Formats: sequence, C-alpha cells, structure tokens
Amino acid sequence: DKGGWSSFMAKEISEEPEAVAKTILGRTHDGLVQLNELDPIGDEALRDIDRIVIIACGTAAYAGMLGKYAIEQWSRIPVDVELSHEFRYRDPILSDRTLVISISQSGETMDTLMAVKYVHDKSKAHLLSVCNTQGATIPRESHAVVYTHAGPEVAVASTKAFVAQVTALYLIGLHLAKVRGTLDDAAIRAAVDELQAVPDKLAEVIDVAQGQVGQLAHWMTDTQSVLFLGRHVGYPIAMEGALKLKELAYIHAEGFAAGELKHGPIALIEPGQVVFVIVPSPRDPSSLHPKVVSNIQEIRARGARVIAIAEKGDAAVLPFADEVIPIPLAGSLFEPLLAVVPLHIFGMELADAKGLDVDQPRNLAKSVTVE
Ligand code: F6R
Repeated sequence: DKGGWSSFMAKEISEEPEAVAKTILGRTHDGLVQLNELDPIGDEALRDIDRIVIIACGTAAYAGMLGKYAIEQWSRIPVDVELSHEFRYRDPILSDRTLVISISQSGETMDTLMAVKYVHDKSKAHLLSVCNTQGATIPRESHAVVYTHAGPEVAVASTKAFVAQVTALYLIGLHLAKVRGTLDDAAIRAAVDELQAVPDKLAEVIDVAQGQVGQLAHWMTDTQSVLFLGRHVGYPIAMEGALKLKELAYIHAEGFAAGELKHGPIALIEPGQVVFVIVPSPRDPSSLHPKVVSNIQEIRARGARVIAIAEKGDAAVLPFADEVIPIPLAGSLFEPLLAVVPLHIFGMELADAKGLDVDQPRNLAKSVTVE
C-alpha cells in the first residue's frame, strides 16, 4: 500500500528518518551502544579480530564503504570492502581473527549468499550479517545478525534500507570501539548523540530538498550524462547518486572521488556538463573543504553546471555553484546520511519527469537471486 504516495519509492524516502530511528531503538543503554546481537560471536573474539571484510553488492556496498570509514576511525581495525561477486573468486585470505560482515536488504542476493557460504565452508572467520528481512537466508547462514529496521522495501531502488544499513554499521563500529577500548565513553556517547540526531535532520533535508530537487529534475529531462564528485565519506555518496540515476532515469552517470578529477575525469568536463558535488563541512578539521571548493572552481571554469550539496551557511561554495542544496550541520561521519537524501529524491524525480516507472525500472528485480 503506497499510503497516498505517488510511488513506493516516494513513500520509502519519506520513511528514511524512521528507518534510522528504528534501527537505533533498543540498542543504546546509558548513552552507550548495547548490541546483544553480537553475543553469539562474543566480546572476547571481537577483541581478537585483526581484520574486517565487508561484502555486499550495489547500494549495500556503498553503505559498506561508509561503514569502513567509521569502523576504522572508531575501532582502528582495518576494513576492506568487497563486492560479493568478486570476493570469493580469488581465494580470499581469511582466518579465525577475520570478521566478515555481509550487508543485504533482502538477505537473498545470490552473489552475497554464495560469498557468505564460501566463508562458512572454507574458513574459521566470524560471520556477521546486516539484513533488513527477518529470517532471510543470509542471516541464517551467519553466526550473528544485526537487523536493520527499515520496514519492508518495495521499490526496486534501495533508499531507506541504505540509511538503516549505515546506521547498523555505525552501531557495530561503536560496539567494537567499546570492546577494544579505542574510544572512551565520552566519545562513544558523543557519537551516539550524533546518530540519534540524524532522524530529525533527515526530516529537515527531505522537507527542504523536495521542491528544490524536483525543479532541478524537471529542467534536466534531456540531460545525457551526469557526474557526481565527493571525497572521503562523500565518495560513496557520489557513487550512490550515480547508481540511482542509471537504474531509475537510464542516464549515463558516474561517481568518483574528487581527488581523481585531475587524474583523468576532468577531460569529460565541457560546457553544460552537470556535476553534483558533495561538499564536506567547512568545520571539518581535515583540509578537504577548501580542496573540494577548488575542484568546483576548476570544473566551473570549464563550463560545468555545478549543483553543490553543502552544509547550511557554507558561504564559500555560493559564488561558484549554480545551485546549492543545503543540509543541516552534522559531524563528518554523519553528513553522508543527510547528503544522500537529495540524490535519492533526484533519481526518483528525474525518472518521474521522464515518465518512467519509478518503482520498477527496466531489466531489474528487487532481489537478485541469480549469480
Ligand atoms: C540499488 C539497489 C541494488 C541493491 C543490490 C543489493 O538501488 O537496490 O544495487 O542494493 O542489488 O541488494 P540487497 O541489499 O538486497 O542484497
């Protein structure tokens, strides 16, 4: 039931705040993270882990990339993110000190399931599943499962499941930081506070972005190609924005790390090329903000039409962007959860403006049950 929305996708985007809130619910205690779901693996084993491998496909793999940034920063455990279908075909290095985290909305994606079975049969690695579907096959093949509570996702394009997956991975990262003593309680509490503030901020982004992004989509129905740039946590978001445009609006789209621009992709920039840029916060202690602003200047000088997704009040981008989509202030690791929403809306609105089926794009199935 679409509940009055024009599509399941529109409904599911509106449920992104709730998906995050419900995934946090019952998993904090006294301001810290309490993930009893990890008990089957046990804190002792988690203290001994020397490497994490995240396996997933598509949008879930981009959630995994965000998980990598957070888990490495908080727990100092090295994390690799691999596409499930690449992972098991090269004799991966696994031991009893490896934690493999699979991410799947459906819990039935054959590529990911086969990779999980491979780990199960060929190694002593610990298997943790992040899944949105109770009792699905992938969690049943794993040692432990942290369910995302996004509710059923019907539209083929994943939206609310994505933000819920990132939330679950952040909770896992904070749990690991506690167990391994890499963050003190005050730092964990601050991160939990940030995460708990995300749902309200998401609601604000949806409110602000809907009209603005809808308009943008309407004048872009003839656009042939769109590029997306981001750095650090903005990089997976750039790829997610591009994937949504491909699958929903059938437009050639590419997401890349802004630092790569000068290593090749800048040659693609010609007058009129639309480029979305995910801009890091000017408050970020790294020097990424000025670097991305200078990327914007470079592509603007070559005629690109720049649509910046930037923190509210970021005055530095205003002179150089054709359009700025503002997002609320948040810590660096939490910004991508907000920046992704305008891109979800954009993919949907552009598909809609082109008269395409938003919920059932051509050639795609909600759950890919063949390898
Ligand atoms: C993109 C999309 C797909 C899925 C991918 C994994 O919008 O929906 O890329 O994310 O097929 O699916 P799950 O999470 O069910 O394993």
